[in-house]
Amino acid sequence: MNNDSSGSAEPVVMGIETSCDETGVGIVRGHELLADAVASSVEEHARFGGVVPEVASRAHLEAMVPTVQRALDDAGLTLADLDGIAVTAGPGLAGALMVGVGAAKAYSLATGVPLYGVNHLSAHIAVDTLENGPIPEPAIGLLVSGGHSTIMMVEDLAGKVTQLGASIDDAAGEAFDKVARLLGLPFPGGPYIDRAAKEGDRAFVRFPRGLSAAKDQEHHRYDFSFSGLKTAVARWIEARRLDGEDVPVNDVAAAFQEAVCDVLTRKAILAAKEHGVDTILLGGGVAANSRLRALATERAEQAGITLRYPRPKLCTDNGAMVAALGSHLVAAGVSPSRFDFPANSSMDVEIVSLADRL
Ligand code: KG4
Ligand code: ZN
Repeated sequence: MNNDSSGSAEPVVMGIETSCDETGVGIVRGHELLADAVASSVEEHARFGGVVPEVASRAHLEAMVPTVQRALDDAGLTLADLDGIAVTAGPGLAGALMVGVGAAKAYSLATGVPLYGVNHLSAHIAVDTLENGPIPEPAIGLLVSGGHSTIMMVEDLAGKVTQLGASIDDAAGEAFDKVARLLGLPFPGGPYIDRAAKEGDRAFVRFPRGLSAAKDQEHHRYDFSFSGLKTAVARWIEARRLDGEDVPVNDVAAAFQEAVCDVLTRKAILAAKEHGVDTILLGGGVAANSRLRALATERAEQAGITLRYPRPKLCTDNGAMVAALGSHLVAAGVSPSRFDFPANSSMDVEIVSLADRL
């Protein structure tokens, strides 16, 4: 343990993230971020319009040791200073996860530092502690990334997280990426749509808000659906082209983004109100979206709910989020993971860490 001048022990934890195309290694001391090294293979995937799993795995393999070294150098630490090593055990791309899990096991075995296999989704929520301090519990987490759109009830970030709702088809980030492609914008599309939308009119067309009708309220109250929205945008663009007219990219981007952000914020606030929870946390790559942050702020304020989100760089995949969750687990006295845990590409959102179990 690393003792500060007041004598309190703040765990120093390294987090390793390899679930998709970012090799992330972060180091934290308690809630303090010491290093956040990220090596991305995104440019190698861009020409394919999506992440190619084998290419991602190989890039992780090449980047792993230098990225760990860079994080240690940035933090001015060595492996011997660590109190824990946390790693994303899932969900994500199987081969990509295996590289991080294998590396974390090797570092842990070589140093004797306890190992924590953690859930990528809870890590997206935990990263907020690095910016805004301890999370009030219970809190509602709105987790929106390339693979997930989930409303979570966080009763205890060290172990009790339940899913209230999720996308029944495309994830929010996936919808951003697909619509960007329809509009001829590069991959990954989220940031490009965000930028284009700033110059557009969000009331230009009213695109459908999935699962928002009265009939959906019983079975899909907190669920999302974005594939109908994507199809509606595709049809609209097609019709416009058939008429020989130009597609107003900025306006379509703004109107599409508005439909996504409207549903996400409306349902997250409904979940908080109906569960008597007064804090909402945004996490995941789509939480970097400027309109989502603005609309959520506006609506949370109206509802008397506290809204928290980390800076954009900490919303997208990184190692600091894994380290933040690891540090929280160490401080909470959660048991480390057994060495034989596997990488789990479809890890259940409700499993925060693989404490003592397979
Ligand atoms: O959390 P993340 O980095 O990786 C996953 O766990 O999936 O999320 C990546 C997703 C991509 O779909 C990307 O287009 C989206 O987050 N994204 C955004 C923005 N920045 C990243 N979507 C909307 N607006 C943004 N500014
Ligand atoms: Zn992610």
